[in-house]
Amino acid sequence: MKKVKTMCSAFVVVLGVMSCSGGDDSSTTETPPPAGGGDVVTNPTYTANIKSIIDANCVSCHAPGGENSTVPLQTYAQVSAKAADIKIRIEKPAGDPLVMPKGGKLSQSKIDLINKWIANGMPN
Ligand code: HEC
Repeated sequence: MKKVKTMCSAFVVVLGVMSCSGGDDSSTTETPPPAGGGDVVTNPTYTANIKSIIDANCVSCHAPGGENSTVPLQTYAQVSAKAADIKIRIEKPAGDPLVMPKGGKLSQSKIDLINKWIANGMPN
């Protein structure tokens, strides 16, 4: 019996280290879409934006005969004179005894709008 030994020579193959040039060359130069869904008011005015919010949410109490008739909020002069207090009160968390409208809370978009109006100098 003849034994055939197969000798496997180990060849050391030096492989060049393949540098993975994973360069993602997709050029992303697209411009982002304009912010806002179109209903963002950039420069709210009392007449166009603020009065309707106050009328619907505040005047039921803040007018003669209302729960707080001493602080009426029916005109530009009355609302703008109270702007600093209004800002503080509408930003109180829901459930806070000082939040306005009393016992409620405006939507964040309405709060943002009033704050923007105040920050812009309260245009009539
Ligand atoms: C359900 C009635 C009611 C509604 C609605 C209401 N208020 Fe008032 N508000 C009151 C009462 C009562 C007071 C006085 C007690 C107090 O200071 O919390 C008051 C006080 C205030 C004060 C403090 C005035 C001051 O000089 O001390 C501001 C500012 C105010 N409200 C703003 C608002 C605004 C803005 C809204 C609407 C977003 C609003 N209120 C809605 C009843 C109401």
